[in-house]
Parts: sequence; structure tokens; C-alpha cells
Amino acid sequence: MAKRSIEEVEIAGKRVFLRVDFNVPLADGQVTDDARLVAVLPTLAYARGAGARVILASHLGRPKGKPDPKYSLAPVARHLGTALGQEVPLAPDCVGPEVEARAQALAAGELLLLENLRFHPGEEANDPAFARSLAALADLYVNDAFAAAHRAHASTEGITRYLRPAVAGLLMRRELEILARIVEAPDRPLVAILGGAKVSDKLKLVQSLLTRVQRLLIGGGMAFTFLKAKGYEVGKSLLDEEKVEMCAGAMQRAKERNIPLILPTDIVVADALAPDAHTRVVRADQIPADWVGVDVGPETIRIFED
Ligand code: 3PG
Repeated sequence: MAKRSIEEVEIAGKRVFLRVDFNVPLADGQVTDDARLVAVLPTLAYARGAGARVILASHLGRPKGKPDPKYSLAPVARHLGTALGQEVPLAPDCVGPEVEARAQALAAGELLLLENLRFHPGEEANDPAFARSLAALADLYVNDAFAAAHRAHASTEGITRYLRPAVAGLLMRRELEILARIVEAPDRPLVAILGGAKVSDKLKLVQSLLTRVQRLLIGGGMAFTFLKAKGYEVGKSLLDEEKVEMCAGAMQRAKERNIPLILPTDIVVADALAPDAHTRVVRADQIPADWVGVDVGPETIRIFED
């Protein structure tokens, strides 16, 4: 894919608006899985090493366009600071004169993390005025937020109209290279494994994968909407009621194409989503009404491994 990357533009002494996806899980004010933070460390190291003045921007959760301390990036700043071995300053907002002054004052190699982009309604609305305010903070734009790049928001799309050059970060480049290989010239047989919570975002992907893969394995939170579409009861498991019919349609298309779409046959269920919950393994069609499915079971793991 012909995308210019951060390595192909001049960044020494420049203020770089680095859009990352720090939408990480939190519990009790702590980051509980820092994979997304770790994934952008190479881009950060490169940008700082090259003398850029780095302005990090991310969304966190869905605070609905207004400030909400629950979705502050403060825990992310602390965690990133520990990973980098130095304090990561967090701006009180992501736009405005104070933030502009702090971005302007950055020295080469220094970092500033902006507060949650979604504290402003203009982010998700892709409002041009908000995008222009973000653009005012920097000299160039780098997108390293592959996991958020399917959203046309002010910080992922709108800003690129006002801030040029707009290039890919190292993580984005790597993701695009892997994706291009799978789409253009995959090794076969090609098996896709899908999981995660948001079934609605992935249904289009399922349609597209069904034209490419030899098998499609579905686990994680999204499996329950598919199990429901199969006619199973899923208890208190994550379920996207509105997408049940579309999941049924996807399963039908897989059948017509003769592509095995493999769902879990057994499920680990829990009586609560808590560290001290009781768990047991049940058949996928026997999830008890009061229990929540939290993972695939051992039989499914064997089937997926095969
Ligand atoms: C994700 O975690 O899937 C991305 O950060 C996008 O988040 P969103 O679904 O709230 O836009």
C-alpha cells in the first residue's frame, strides 16, 4: 500500500501530532492491558530520536462528547511514564490556547499527551472547526492508530485536511503491510480468527473474509451474537441483539460458499465478571440463564488448534 511513513518526512524540530489508539482497559485507575501502549513505543522512540516534538493524542472509551474523569487519560500517562522511565505530562485538554502554548513550548524529543479527544463532541462528529483546532497544535500529522482508523473522526480524518504532510506511523505501516499481504497474496490455506466485543464493526470484515479465507474461526465476545443467531440462549453473555439477523446472514453466506465458519462448541461461563467468580465449562447450547460466557472452552481450543 502506497502510504508515506514517518520515516520519509522531515521531523527534526517539528511538532508532530501523533494520533495513537490508547483506548486501553482500565480497572481502579490502572491500565490492565498495555499492549496498545507498547505497540507504539517504536514510533515514539523513532520520533524522539529524530528530534521531533511529540504531541500524543488518543480517545479513551465513549464519554459522549463531554469531560468525564472516568475516561481521563491520566492512568495512561502514568503507565506510559513507567514504560519510558520518565514522567509523561498530560495536558488538561486537547485543544485551546493553553494546550497550544504547551505544544509550542516542547523541546526536541519531548512529549505531551493530550487529554481524551472524545471530551469534545467535535471529535466523533468530525467537526471541521475542532479538526482545525487540533491541527493548530502541530506542524505535521502522523497516524499510528490503526485500531481507530476505521472511524472518520476529527483526529483521524478531518485533521488531515488542515495539517500536512499526513503520514503513517511505524505501527500503522506494519499493520498495512500485513493486511496488504493477506489481501493481495496470502499463503494458503488462510484461516482467520476473529474475536473482540464489537460484532457490528466486524460484520463487514466477515463478509470480506468469506471471499478470501478457507476457514473462519469466531471466538471472544462476538461469538455470542453468532451463537444466538444459531438459536442458542446465551445467558448474560455479551450480545448485540440488533446484529443477530446479520450474523445469521453471514453464516448462511459461509455455507453457500462452502467456507467452514467455526463457532465455539463449549464455553467457560462465570456467575459474575469478578476475580473471585465461580466458573465452569458448558456446551455452547447450554449457557445457563444467569451466567455470563467469558471465553471459549477447552474443546473449542482443540478444534481451533486443529
Ligand atoms: C477500539 O478499541 O476498537 C478502537 O479504539 C475504537 O474504539 P471505538 O469503537 O469506541 O470507536
